[in-house]
Amino acid sequence: MEQAIGGSFEAVGLIERDLLVWLGLQPSDNVVDVGCGAGRLAEPLARIHQGPYLGTDVVPALLDHARGLARRADWRFELVDDSLSIPAPNESADWVCFFSVLTHLKHEASYLYLKEAKRVLRPEGRIVMSFLEFAIPSHWSPFEQSVTDIAAGNEHPLNQFIDRGAIEAWSTHLDFRVLQILDGDQQNIPLSQPVTTESGQQFADYASLGQSVAVLGHRAAGI
Ligand SMILES: C[S@@+](CC[C@H](N)C(=O)[O-])C[C@H]1O[C@@H](n2cnc3c(N)ncnc32)[C@H](O)[C@@H]1O
Repeated sequence: MEQAIGGSFEAVGLIERDLLVWLGLQPSDNVVDVGCGAGRLAEPLARIHQGPYLGTDVVPALLDHARGLARRADWRFELVDDSLSIPAPNESADWVCFFSVLTHLKHEASYLYLKEAKRVLRPEGRIVMSFLEFAIPSHWSPFEQSVTDIAAGNEHPLNQFIDRGAIEAWSTHLDFRVLQILDGDQQNIPLSQPVTTESGQQFADYASLGQSVAVLGHRAAGI
């Protein structure tokens, strides 16, 4: 299960969690984790977070695994279909996270998901989305893998690159403001503890997530 959603389960989960803390996550905040997978974020988050959490995914077995790791009876893990919906009330979430999720959806679907996130986001809330982009040299490898798979006629996951111009355009049309963009290859996320990835890369004080990260907020919030 943990391999199914990407490598370095423990290290990346900690980096995702510490990113939210660094961005201002408060202990009582309401967190929505769209495409939560096997609980890579939910597991380390459960160790420090008191507030509500909703994880959604399209794969029941992944949700079961995430639920088992988080061990939080008060947290919700909900199956969604492909309708790009978030089962949460209007203006209820302080954070809506898309970690390595919009990387696997077509742009139109990502736009619809961001529109749905806008509905559930509180006025001062934040959307955190990770993404792949051609501007970051290390992102070339998933693209090259897709090219190899397509050339060989192999089945392959969609690795959808999103450039910063697209994120700006989507934000303009959805009345969001792009508050921050983090380069995926820079060690820009302060860590609460050292982490080591499956490839042996060690991060002591700061880490990179690998994917780039955009942070969006409502334009009307005046931020
Ligand atoms: C690469 S995994 C990332 C999982 C998790 N966010 C993490 O960081 O470990 C992508 C996840 O998105 C889920 N997913 C794909 N399409 C989805 C959709 N339309 N709505 C919700 N989740 C979706 C997949 O089942 C998978 O668990």
